[in-house]
Amino acid sequence: MSKYQRLAQQVSQQIEQQVWQPGQRLPSLRRMAADSGLSLMTVMNAYQLLEQQGRIEAVPRSGYRVKDLPASRPALSSAATHVRDQVSINNFAYQVLQASNQPGLLPLGSAFPDPNLFPLRALARGLGRASAALAEHPIDHLPPGSLALRQAIARHYSRNDMTISPDDILITAGAMEGLNLALEAVTQPGDWVVIEAPAFYGALQAIERLGLRAIAVATDPKQGMQPEALADVLKRYPVKACWLMSRYQNPLGFCLSQQRQQALYELFCAHDVWVIEDDVYGELAPPGARAPQPMKAIDQQQRILHCGSFSKSLAPGFRLGWVCAGEQLQRLAQRQFIATLSSSAPEQQAVAAYLDSRPYQTHLRQLRSTLHQRKQGLLHWLHQCMPANVHINDSQGGYFIWLALPDGGDAIELYHQALQLGISLAPGALFSADPMLQRGVRLNASYPLSDKLRNALQQLARLMA
Ligand SMILES: Cc1ncc(COP(=O)(O)O)c(C=O)c1O
Repeated sequence: MSKYQRLAQQVSQQIEQQVWQPGQRLPSLRRMAADSGLSLMTVMNAYQLLEQQGRIEAVPRSGYRVKDLPASRPALSSAATHVRDQVSINNFAYQVLQASNQPGLLPLGSAFPDPNLFPLRALARGLGRASAALAEHPIDHLPPGSLALRQAIARHYSRNDMTISPDDILITAGAMEGLNLALEAVTQPGDWVVIEAPAFYGALQAIERLGLRAIAVATDPKQGMQPEALADVLKRYPVKACWLMSRYQNPLGFCLSQQRQQALYELFCAHDVWVIEDDVYGELAPPGARAPQPMKAIDQQQRILHCGSFSKSLAPGFRLGWVCAGEQLQRLAQRQFIATLSSSAPEQQAVAAYLDSRPYQTHLRQLRSTLHQRKQGLLHWLHQCMPANVHINDSQGGYFIWLALPDGGDAIELYHQALQLGISLAPGALFSADPMLQRGVRLNASYPLSDKLRNALQQLARLMA
């Protein structure tokens, strides 16, 4: 690679990492030459190359500036309501998970953030201390779980202007256990459950396990479940529960506005529907932005079972989550007592101790900033290399990007071909039975944009083309 190409690559990476923002002026040719120690001609060639690549543009008499990101190519949305008498996702979801676990694979299909982004050493020290002190709290971890942890979670709610009693909280083995317990507590086999379109596959797995029936309600990729569509479904079906995400939905990444939360909540109240609120990404707002409150904040009627987790924001692999279950707590706790008894005692103590510390706030700030930067970098690269007819949906927070293949595209075929190339993907069939949404692919944007990843995405783009 020649000097000017190397400089162009460097600047291009800086743009991806938001060192230079869209619209911002780059240093003048002279300034860049002086700073880099390269000749004026080399810098000029580098800038011209970046201009040809569409990354920067010349502005008469004022040098070069970074081009705006192309407007987000709109994602596919489904206007249709999709009714499923029988949900069958578990075999497929398990196969995809197993395939994605192969060592050396680029984990674009993974649901978990890059593990290097977490304070693992500090947590390990806390775990050591908690294990050594186990004799002091021999049964504190049993349902409803460690009091210290429940109190720390209640304080965490108060930072969101929500008053939740530690007595209303049940500690669970990740959000997954909490969500399953919550759904089981408010339904009987054969009941109807409303979900989003597309929905997190864990909801479909739980619905299948419990012998429930699913209705996927039309969901706008930017604004979430459509109240008119929900109203129509609730008029026609005796729906028992709704599983939804109000913040940074998986896979689309939208947040429900306050008005939409209110409109949906009123419908749930009017039709006596329980809400299972899956809020595992609520901490992952972009830096500088404040996440909206979860729907639980307006729950005057105690019909929302709000489920959270530390898997995405603090301690992946610890398998710690919670349900704010209110009046339903005893029912959930009894079921947990039979099924799993509890999650690990030292982990509960270690996380409780870490949550109130200053390093936790610093960790969250860094995590949000890194995830945002990495997602922006990946988006930029996708806009450059993906065929024009592939829809790219940016999310409002979290670390997922949803792509939608054009008409006739087969995301499952793409998923198999990508595996051959050493890349895992999460195909749309995991999230929906609607053929239109099955053309979707979810990408995990939490990993650094290495050369290996860039090349992999280019290969993927060629497959799509
Ligand atoms: C939307 C959503 N809910 C729940 C979970 C499960 O969370 P946990 O790992 O805490 O069980 C996940 C994990 O991928 C998720 O994406």
